[in-house]
Amino acid sequence: MEPIEDLDVLDEERVRQREVDGEADEDLDRVKHGYDATAGDKQVYIETYGCQMNVNDSGIVASVLEESGYGLTREQAEADVVLLNTCAIRENAERKIRVRLSMLRSEKEKRDGELMLGVLGCMAERLREKLLEQEDLVDVVVGPDAYRDLPQLLYEADATGQAAVNVELSKQETYEDIQPVRYDSNGVSAYVSIMRGCDNMCTFCVVPFTRGREESRPVTTILSEVSQLVEEGYKEVTLLGQNVNSYHYTDESGTSVSFAELVDRVSRVSTELRVRYSTSHPKDCTDDLLTVHRDRPNVCNYIHLPVQHGNTEVLDRMRRTYTREEYLALTERAKELCPGVSLSTDLIAGFCGETEAQHEDTLSLMEAVRYDHAYMFKYSERPQTYAARKYEDDVPADTKQRRLEEIIELQNQHAKESNEAEIGRVHTVLVEGPSKKSDEQFFGRADTNKGVVFDREDYEKGDYVRVRIDDCTSSTLLGTALEQTTLEEAARTDSITTEPAMA
Ligand code: SAH
Ligand code: SF4
Ligand code: F3S
Repeated sequence: MEPIEDLDVLDEERVRQREVDGEADEDLDRVKHGYDATAGDKQVYIETYGCQMNVNDSGIVASVLEESGYGLTREQAEADVVLLNTCAIRENAERKIRVRLSMLRSEKEKRDGELMLGVLGCMAERLREKLLEQEDLVDVVVGPDAYRDLPQLLYEADATGQAAVNVELSKQETYEDIQPVRYDSNGVSAYVSIMRGCDNMCTFCVVPFTRGREESRPVTTILSEVSQLVEEGYKEVTLLGQNVNSYHYTDESGTSVSFAELVDRVSRVSTELRVRYSTSHPKDCTDDLLTVHRDRPNVCNYIHLPVQHGNTEVLDRMRRTYTREEYLALTERAKELCPGVSLSTDLIAGFCGETEAQHEDTLSLMEAVRYDHAYMFKYSERPQTYAARKYEDDVPADTKQRRLEEIIELQNQHAKESNEAEIGRVHTVLVEGPSKKSDEQFFGRADTNKGVVFDREDYEKGDYVRVRIDDCTSSTLLGTALEQTTLEEAARTDSITTEPAMA
């Protein structure tokens, strides 16, 4: 097998940069170890881009800054410090953030510099000092593993008038002891980060460069965070990681815990807590994990299983480690072990060298699996990646666009058909809050992750409600509430009304 040379590049690149002139004054030391009195009544505003990991990381950043004496504000106009937690996955994502940054820079000028700007997350990691050269009004640049340093870096930037940077990637940092502030949470469902980084090195993907190597968080701290959430009234957790199902933790006694075991243990914290996870890799979707889905009623019957492409040769060039046939066999296995399982995926159109016939293999794979949902993208070349260095981004822009549109059209058709098949069925829906369109209606999710809207009547946020599906759009189910229920009760009812999974 071809050695994954990029992993070595990554290790060499772990440079610690700090633009301070070494005056190790006592204040800096104090800030590093705790509360910064000079934070005073400074207000911080955090804007988050990218994936769920970033949403959770912004909560960690908020928690670190609150501990240090900063206030958190939801109004950007009131903020003394504005932090953008950024994403680098595609060129478009970066472009959007650059536009936002230039707006904030002109605001900083208007306020005579009395506004500190920070770039956090994956763009900070990717661009490092370039961000400082090109965007010279940025005060701090902080990578995803250096958030504990933020108070100190803000202090340094403020005290020296120079930008402060820490983009060091760590093999240890999992922020295991930090309870993230859940300021955008609906109070019903919460993210719990269980691992960070990715070792897979898919040839198109920048994540291993921006997030570094995989590191799993200790089981005990995960379970205590989940217990705390249950005590606070949360009804659903989504375990998070860039490659969540490659989770693997070995404790001091040498006992190792796999992802399947972890999910099982999390599901036993409370029978009334729904458990989801994101985002998984097909190579780590084991029979053990599928069995946990089958046997634990509160582990949702939904798996996000990103395939990326339907052609084996393209999958090989993407370095996805499975063939089309192996992936299809996995989805069959999932459907066999977990009847009614809902599957979703990620797809990339127009990867380097993709022929028309290969593109059609993606369409035929979609026909074979029939996903309930998909995230669909045009290939976007990312600097540093193997594909950027070794392959040619040779599918013309209009062809990429057309292929993406074909994929989207087919997926919309499948989603519509799948939703239409729901009419007449009854689902247990966890109420998340009012629907987007009307305060008179609630939005919630079925076990399969499908969004359901129904008249709110006397039900409350956080209730499990049995809802009969009467109608649908291509993205949402519309129903009528029948009665309140519990997950335990729903599991009993379902086992009476559906066929047993296996002999
Ligand atoms: N760890 C997950 C994916 C995380 S990134 C997995 O392996 O499936 C989320 C999605 O962004 C990917 O699944 C992929 O579909 C898409 N993506 C990543 N890099 C991309 C690129 N260079 N161009 C277009 N889409 C990309
Ligand atoms: Fe990127 Fe996902 Fe591949 Fe990791 S597994 S390199 S995050 S696409
Ligand atoms: Fe974007 Fe980084 Fe997430 S690149 S998708 S924010 S891991």
